[in-house]
Amino acid sequence: MLSHKSDRGISVGTGQDLYRRAKRLIPGGTQLLSKRPEMFLPDQWPAYYRRAKGASVWDLDDIHYTDMTTSAVGSCPLGFADDDVNTAVVDAIGAGSMSTLNCPEEVELAELLCELHPWAQMCRFARTGGESMAIAVRIARARTKRSVVAVCGYHGWSDWYLAANHADADALGEGMLLPGLDPGGVPRELAGTTVAFKHNDIDALHAIASQHAGALAAIVCEPQRGERPTPGFLEATREIADQTGAVLIFDEVSAALRLTHGGVHLLYDVEPDIAVFAKAIGNGFPIGAVIGTADVMEAAQTTFISSTYWTERIGPTAALATLRKFARIGGAERLTDAGRRVQAIWRAAGEAAGLQVRVGHPDMPAFSHLEFDHPAPQAVRTLYCQLMLERGYLDNGNCYSTCAHTPEILSHYEEVVSDAFARLSEIVRAGRVIDELRGPVAHTGFARLTPS
Ligand SMILES: Cc1ncc(COP(=O)(O)O)c(C=O)c1O
Repeated sequence: MLSHKSDRGISVGTGQDLYRRAKRLIPGGTQLLSKRPEMFLPDQWPAYYRRAKGASVWDLDDIHYTDMTTSAVGSCPLGFADDDVNTAVVDAIGAGSMSTLNCPEEVELAELLCELHPWAQMCRFARTGGESMAIAVRIARARTKRSVVAVCGYHGWSDWYLAANHADADALGEGMLLPGLDPGGVPRELAGTTVAFKHNDIDALHAIASQHAGALAAIVCEPQRGERPTPGFLEATREIADQTGAVLIFDEVSAALRLTHGGVHLLYDVEPDIAVFAKAIGNGFPIGAVIGTADVMEAAQTTFISSTYWTERIGPTAALATLRKFARIGGAERLTDAGRRVQAIWRAAGEAAGLQVRVGHPDMPAFSHLEFDHPAPQAVRTLYCQLMLERGYLDNGNCYSTCAHTPEILSHYEEVVSDAFARLSEIVRAGRVIDELRGPVAHTGFARLTPS
């Protein structure tokens, strides 16, 4: 472990000490791949937080950082510990967050989600994105009495999804979100029940549909992640679902609220049979929602989908408070404006420093992504993260904007990025990227961790 004094004269060792203990106790170190310190800055990332508020995070040494990463993987679009959402949740806790009877908030939330998505009439709730997707696929299989699921993109850790990697060494590889996901522990007998295609690849979807005619239960995709879907792609998913009798499921776990108030599919005039929400709609509190047409959702009654903590009160309370506030303040526009500013800052700083950078995604400003044109891009990216950490920022060039990224915060960010890029450019030109790194290069995807 490296325990060092950063340029700001502070120790960043306490979180790393705890993380070393964690790796002996918790396989993989954390509960979510995207929160592994190795994904950002191995041996140096603060790893744990004591407090979080707005765009600010304080680590275990009480060091303050401004968070310009994914802000908890896109789960807090209003910013951390939003006052209005927290007040609603604290009230819910005071009134009893659990009871033998059901909480009325779940009915109110079902009504609100169906109002925002007029094609949907019914709703089930869970607490995480992965389990909500598993529910959606179960309902689709129950409805169609078929097994095969055509899928593109990332949809969580469940057996139905990872089964795709049994059929093909790396079906969930390039073009999917997490190459190399290992399906260990997923029954081999599920091979062939989930087949992967790439986003926008209409021909591949047609091929799956004809190969599995009569067996296709569902087509699962995100309507949009970074790039806008190519014209005709979403329409084709609808058409193929209609022709084959499959259920069309749009995964809005990450995309919802980033471009418009509700699912991003609302912008494209294509209606799915089911849409799935989680993460952002609870602003940091666990809630997942599966909405759909009454015709399809009624199939939930022909199978068993039931769990104790899907009935607690905090999730739906947080979602109601989040969705209402987000509508009131024009949240989607604010995320878009902040993201556009981040992308402009990176472009201008790259130009000023003479660094070749590629900046995405213009079609989805709320997901900003920075890449360095260099023979060792991941090493440069890791060094960028190190330089920004020294300057008080959590920043690995992957930014999900939030409403807490105010113009004032972004003005300061602009100055700091310019300074870090200038230093990075000097180091790159001197060919000293690896020499300047105080730890290993960051991991890029799924990698087995060994305790150290
Ligand atoms: C599109 C999509 N679906 C599903 C999931 C899984 O959600 P969770 O991590 O809450 O299980 C994610 C998580 O990143 C996601 O981006």
